Amino acid sequence: MKILLPGGAGYIGSHTAIELLNAGEEIIIIDNFANSNKKSLEAIKEITGKDFKFCELNYLDEEKLDKVFEENKIDAVMNFAGFKSVGESVKNPIEYYKNNISGALTLLETMKKHNVKKFIFSSSATVYGDPEKVPITEDSKTGGTTNPYGTTKYYIEQILKDIYNSDPTWDICILRYFNPVGAHKSGLIGEEPRGIPNNLMPYIVRVAAGELKELSVFGNDYNTKDGTGVRDFIHVVDLAKGHVAALSKLKKEGKGLFIYNLGTGKGYSVLDMVKSFEKATNQKVPYKITPRRPGDIAECYADPKKAKEELGWEATKTLEDMCRDSWNYIKSQNK
Ligand code: UFG
Repeated sequence: MKILLPGGAGYIGSHTAIELLNAGEEIIIIDNFANSNKKSLEAIKEITGKDFKFCELNYLDEEKLDKVFEENKIDAVMNFAGFKSVGESVKNPIEYYKNNISGALTLLETMKKHNVKKFIFSSSATVYGDPEKVPITEDSKTGGTTNPYGTTKYYIEQILKDIYNSDPTWDICILRYFNPVGAHKSGLIGEEPRGIPNNLMPYIVRVAAGELKELSVFGNDYNTKDGTGVRDFIHVVDLAKGHVAALSKLKKEGKGLFIYNLGTGKGYSVLDMVKSFEKATNQKVPYKITPRRPGDIAECYADPKKAKEELGWEATKTLEDMCRDSWNYIKSQNK
């Protein structure tokens, strides 16, 4: 199959590109490097020993996007393009709604025009808002998102449901990611947030590398085992393999709109993460307890049973793997 990957040079896109190439698929990456860089494309080739087509363009650019579909016989699209910083989305809602929603619509419209109807969408556990219960199953209530980024994911899911209802010959798979961390074991690709990181793992690695003084643990008075927030951290390579499994389902059965949680099903606290990181890497992570971060929830972890039963996929990497590989990536970048 020939799969188009908008945003394929980014963190999750590049890891998925590797797994798709390893599985024998053909890929075309489009990216405008808004939050990624060219060297990840070289890294994908180096790791897999395989070549692929790349087009530098913004997925909002209808004309250029149309040309890509015109010139290539695309069978399916996995959309990794989109802005993803929660804090930035609160400051710049217009940019977030425009980029994420208009981008998805441009892509879907172009797909429709060229009769390409297999679509895999990068959604997020953020669509569950503050969950009524954990572990979270796919039929849990969605909505109640607390920031524009999360709302874009929620709206795009709704758009996809409406498209499917209007024309059931579409094959759509919505993948709700929990908290992706880690990096490819080669140390050649990984997460590179711009500026001071907002997310826990990128912040921890920078503290360990001595680039930031200490970690602020946002609240230790939640109703959790040690009072700090609990999340479902999933290794990005496991997540990438989840996309390959979703693609096989669309290939084999197709005809439907499917929704899967991609998580491990295990909840770890912020302090668990600090301790595991110290143990796995032998680095100190100084921290202090600070007030809660507005908009944060106490606990969020997946029930991953549906993906296991229907996709034959489950996460296999441990928290130790996630910590070691995140650290390995930063060390190789700082060489
Ligand atoms: N945390 C800290 N200190 C930090 C950063 C985070 O204590 O410097 C804590 C948070 O309070 C939270 C946990 O670490 O309890 C995880 O926070 P992250 O910012 O890493 O991740 P979130 O769960 O808040 O959000 C992430 C992604 C979103 C996505 C969501 C899906 O950032 O894009 O998971 O559940 F929508």
